[in-house]
Amino acid sequence: MRKRDLLAVATASFLALTVAGCESGSNTGGGSGGGKIALLLPESQTTRYEQHDRPLFEAKVKELCPDCEVIYSNAQQDQSRQQQQAEAALNNGAKVLVLDPVDGAAAGTIASLAKSKGVPVISYDRLIQNAPIDYYISFDNERVGQLQGEALVNRLKELGKTSGDIVMINGSPTDNNAKQFNKGAHSALDNSGFKTVPTPDYFTPEWKPENAQKFMEGQIAQLGKDGFAGVYAANDGTAGGAIAAMRAAGINPVPPTTGQDAELAAIQRIVSGDQYMTVYKAFKPEADQAATLAVDLVKGNKPTAGKTVDNGSGAIPSFLLEPVVVNKDNIKDTVVKDNLYTVQQICTGAYAAACQAAGLS
Ligand code: BGC
Repeated sequence: MRKRDLLAVATASFLALTVAGCESGSNTGGGSGGGKIALLLPESQTTRYEQHDRPLFEAKVKELCPDCEVIYSNAQQDQSRQQQQAEAALNNGAKVLVLDPVDGAAAGTIASLAKSKGVPVISYDRLIQNAPIDYYISFDNERVGQLQGEALVNRLKELGKTSGDIVMINGSPTDNNAKQFNKGAHSALDNSGFKTVPTPDYFTPEWKPENAQKFMEGQIAQLGKDGFAGVYAANDGTAGGAIAAMRAAGINPVPPTTGQDAELAAIQRIVSGDQYMTVYKAFKPEADQAATLAVDLVKGNKPTAGKTVDNGSGAIPSFLLEPVVVNKDNIKDTVVKDNLYTVQQICTGAYAAACQAAGLS
């Protein structure tokens, strides 16, 4: 090596040491130096991912670390595609993976690959199971199911019903969240006087609204148009499918139906009375927390988390946020107050009268 090159290497190492020294202990990511962060989301039929999670995450990374770059991919419900996207991100030099898995068990392969390359993994919203991961950021998902179940039972009681069948439409069988929503819902529905049908529980392949719709058509054919008291739908997409099936069968009004995600279409159905409730899991704190953590990890910091969750491979440091019930009475105080939607966005032509009646406009 020539003398000038040696000097360059020495200077570079000195700089690297200085930068590392400045950054250790910084929790805000305010130090210099960037890196690539991969954000891997599972699908785009549910509006949250492209409308909220992705832009919020990218904005927070940019704010905390102007020199960082987000490599974004959406797996469109395909686990092998997500595997390829993760591999591509790792080959492209990603220093952190923020992964919302299509399949929580199969995603263990991605986590192990990242680990072998020394790249930390943040499990985003859905838990990656039985594999070494560094952090988990989500909501209290059993609580989500419990809130849905309780709201449904209370509404049915308000309507003077104390017994009957509740058609239960759960989420994707490969999503650990779906199992937790189901568990929480059962804790509220079992022994409530109502009975969930069918047995065993139905889980909607890939969370697809059209699959939920077909399933609901079958249930209506089997139970009769007024053969059930309510519908437990795990999210707004499946609720939309179930409500479309009930409407097409001429059921009007539709019995109380639950949801989750506070999608704009669901808020409008709540205003018009087609859907009873949704669960709002504020996207900003979840995306902000993930972005802050990812930037910390890029900069070599390892922040502590208040809780741990066992993913089958150990106690994973976790941040769990609190979900909120939204029904006709608190749309203004929740999603409108948080600027998720304006009243104008909700109260378009077809909903104008219902909005007025609900005190929204
Ligand atoms: C998320 C929900 C979403 C569903 C379908 C779940 O893991 O927590 O918010 O509706 O997946 O994508």
